[in-house]
Amino acid sequence: MPYEFYKILHFTGLILTFTSLSGYIFYLVQNKSNEKKKLFSILHGIGLLILLVSGFGLAARLGLVSQLPLWVYIKIAIWLLVGGSIALIKRQVMGPMALYLIVVALSILAAITAVTKFV
Ligand code: HEM
Repeated sequence: MPYEFYKILHFTGLILTFTSLSGYIFYLVQNKSNEKKKLFSILHGIGLLILLVSGFGLAARLGLVSQLPLWVYIKIAIWLLVGGSIALIKRQVMGPMALYLIVVALSILAAITAVTKFV
């Protein structure tokens, strides 16, 4: 598949991951139905999977897979933290809004890492 295909998939994963996280937090804060929370939790998982697969697809198209640069490892670390966010919300480790802001900050860092490749 061409590079553009993986990039569109990467953005699709991004959108799915963050809109589902927002939906999950909304229903959590509103103390609303568990079905909806479950649905958003599943969509979050699907979004993360698409992000990871498309991320490696992009890395392959850029010829980086044989020796992954540090910036890709940083992105994988951020992906793991974003992946753990719903579990942290469920365990109420901190307030949903605080965690949401941390996840947004992490994602902006991931985008900066991808665009500037500063390391
Ligand atoms: C929360 C997680 C992530 C976010 C927010 C994110 C965000 C982005 C963004 C915004 C771009 C486009 C940059 C551009 O237009 O130049 C991008 C590109 C890319 N991402 Fe991710 N990404 C994430 C996870 C990952 C993961 C886990 C991998 C690796 C397995 C990865 C590998 C890549 C690669 C290789 C590119 C292409 C860079 C280029 O074209 O120069 N990303 N990412």
